[in-house]
Amino acid sequence: MYTLHEETKEITDIILAARDKAREEVGKSEPEAQFAKPMTWPVQCTVGPGLEGAIACESKVGYVNGSKGMLVYRGYDIFDLCAYSTFEEVSYLLVHGELPNTSQLREFNCSLARFRSLPMTLRRLGGFPVENINTMAALRIGTMMMRQRLSFRDSQSARPDPNTAISADEDSIPMETKPMGEPHAIYEFKKKQLERPKDARETQDESESVQSCMHLISGMATIAAGVARMREEKMPIEPDTELSHAANLLYMMTGRKPTPIEERVMDVALILHADHGMNASTFASMVVASTLSDIYFSVGAGIAALNGPLHGGANEQVLRLLQEIGPAAKVSSWFEQATREKRRIMGFGHRVYKAYDPRARILGPLAKFLIQEKKEMRPLYNTARELEKKVVTTLGAEKKIFPNVDFYSGIVYAAMGIEPELFTPIFAVSRVSGWCARILEYLDNNRIFRPRAMYIGEFDKEYVPIGKRGAKKNARKK
Ligand code: SDX
Repeated sequence: MYTLHEETKEITDIILAARDKAREEVGKSEPEAQFAKPMTWPVQCTVGPGLEGAIACESKVGYVNGSKGMLVYRGYDIFDLCAYSTFEEVSYLLVHGELPNTSQLREFNCSLARFRSLPMTLRRLGGFPVENINTMAALRIGTMMMRQRLSFRDSQSARPDPNTAISADEDSIPMETKPMGEPHAIYEFKKKQLERPKDARETQDESESVQSCMHLISGMATIAAGVARMREEKMPIEPDTELSHAANLLYMMTGRKPTPIEERVMDVALILHADHGMNASTFASMVVASTLSDIYFSVGAGIAALNGPLHGGANEQVLRLLQEIGPAAKVSSWFEQATREKRRIMGFGHRVYKAYDPRARILGPLAKFLIQEKKEMRPLYNTARELEKKVVTTLGAEKKIFPNVDFYSGIVYAAMGIEPELFTPIFAVSRVSGWCARILEYLDNNRIFRPRAMYIGEFDKEYVPIGKRGAKKNARKK
């Protein structure tokens, strides 16, 4: 029935076994009536701190059944998408609403390939001390520089005339000021202000937005891979037009063509992280988009939110936590201590899932599969397994705290030779598809997000001139 993935059948079998185990444990997941029905405004909902339970909008992009541990993209179960689809197909599904046919997928892949090469953007990014800055900050800087595509400077007719503007050579960083003792700057724009060409874009029309989505879905992988290379003080690698999105990400990151297994595992990881309801980074990107700012700024907001260790940044913290614990035999004593200190255990718990995160159900067995070839990682995996058992039998029973997507993803990436600082950028490389899909959907019926706060401050205070205010300590008044 499914011809795809013949070469990596063992990965498909792992995913299908995880699906069967989930169905055995929680039964066939039905949608929760209160979160899966058409609605009319105003909507009644019980809202907790952090907007828990608040309904922000209607959506057809994706659905999370937190009580059953079910995840759906556009009606398709996540287990089926991981078993049979690819990240390219899933990105098309999220953005356009249906799985593509052969010609639609071919065209989509051509678009991704067209946008994948970003030599100028990477060269400009190389002007930053990338090796010393937070990888998500570097990803965000590079992504914001991709926005130049929209500016007339980038359109062909506005390019500086090669004869007058002395372009930088391959290795130097373009400078616009004259270095000491030099007759001119290495790279200077023509003295007179560039005229705005007649065809310069004024606003983004719908095709522009979809094109910007394609640009970001494709280009962010290139930027993330470029950041990985620059951190090692190596030059970025040009994408290979023969490789898939997942394979290109690994190739541009490591300089080595991935094995079919590595490519497939990365592809499944990208599918798993692509969308997840109104999570903090998706909501952040939608809030910015709702002001009619553009999709580049909106995705920039998503990257910033995802960086937080309570959100996408947890995957990197999990690996550090497992290294802190040490051997599996230490888990019990570590857990007692952590419980006494009321520590947040990274990789566990979720605002919506009060059952096993289906993504952890897939990433856990994939981690186990990958470390068969990586004996040196076995102790880390064994510690993870022991910690999982400990948390599930205690916090799971008491507070419905289970492993989330971040618990095993780091082990999977580490087993493929990826350093922890790149785990969250990879999360962003995948989630940009969900951000774009939900932004485009929300803009179809846009209303700027503007919640209220309950004012509990004072009223009618008399204004006192500064000279009469007396010496008060300047602690921020809580
Ligand atoms: C992601 O929203 C999404 O969909 C996000 C995401 C996506 O795909 O976009 O799924 C990706 O962000 C996954 C989560 C990654 N973060 C972590 O692993 C960090 C550790 N997790 C926690 O910080 C926490 O579980 C959150 C932030 C994920 C959820 O926090 P909530 O919903 O605000 O839960 P809470 O703080 O109200 O906690 C409820 C209770 C508290 O105990 P009590 O005060 O009631 O006694 O559960 C406890 C918490 O102390 N608790 C934990 C815990 N998470 C919650 N206790 C120990 N370890 C934890 N990890």
